[in-house]
Amino acid sequence: MKARFPRFDFSKVRAHWAPSAEFSQRGNAASLIPAHIEPYLLKVMRKAQPLLKQRGASEQLQQDLDIFIKQEMQHCKQHISFNNRIHALGYEALKPLEEKLAADFDNFLNTRSLRFNLAYCEGFESMSATACIYYFEDYLPFLEGADKEPADMWKWHLAEEFEHRSVCFDVFHELSGLDPVSRYFYRVYGYFYALVHLAKFAIAAGKVLTEVDHKNLSPEAIEASKQRDAEVKKVTKSGMPGMMLAILAPWYHPRNRREPNGYSAYLAQFEAERCTTPASRTAAAAA
Ligand SMILES: [Fe+2]
Ligand SMILES: [Fe+2]
Repeated sequence: MKARFPRFDFSKVRAHWAPSAEFSQRGNAASLIPAHIEPYLLKVMRKAQPLLKQRGASEQLQQDLDIFIKQEMQHCKQHISFNNRIHALGYEALKPLEEKLAADFDNFLNTRSLRFNLAYCEGFESMSATACIYYFEDYLPFLEGADKEPADMWKWHLAEEFEHRSVCFDVFHELSGLDPVSRYFYRVYGYFYALVHLAKFAIAAGKVLTEVDHKNLSPEAIEASKQRDAEVKKVTKSGMPGMMLAILAPWYHPRNRREPNGYSAYLAQFEAERCTTPASRTAAAAA
């Protein structure tokens, strides 16, 4: 597990960056989430950092949290840049929804307990490690022929989500202040809370994107679009029950999740192709 500093160029990205416009738009709706949730995750984890130290949590966890924060900062930065391009392509109507999502996170930070915020973060993290399986396995047919920049953004992001999958879980366990049984039920509560909250947002964002896309289409073209969307939905839904059951098991620990096919080879190749090294960043800063 390490922080990576990739270079992307989203300036020429198309909204329909994969052969299935509907798959692309589901990805575009989902891409709005990290731009708002990941700054929130960072704020929650920065609250947790001194408490972990005080409690004498393991050095390993504290170091992992440090890398987690650096990885999430890069995810958020790249998704914001990608989302700016999507807005500029005629999807400005997404902005009010995003403002509401950002306000929800401010509200959680300002009015809810650290325990709630940690459980929400862990709920989100378990969902995103699940998405890694989709992008490395179930979604491969949709990614065939897709533009490289958005496809790489998603695969890199989700591969790192898999890498740091245990961090929030361990932080929640250290700081929840609950006995093991209550802690389990509170984790499940955090998972469902995050799932419902983010699913509502993604559905609303998807609706805005679809409305724009369908505006000038014939009824036949709209029907064909709905059918293609149903194909993506079917694949997503078929993977859901198994993953949910795994997350909801009392013995669940993200460390034990199965490695998505090819994820570590992908990260090694990604790093060689796209990432700057500490030396090159220092040289760039000095230039
Ligand atoms: Fe992330
Ligand atoms: Fe994450």
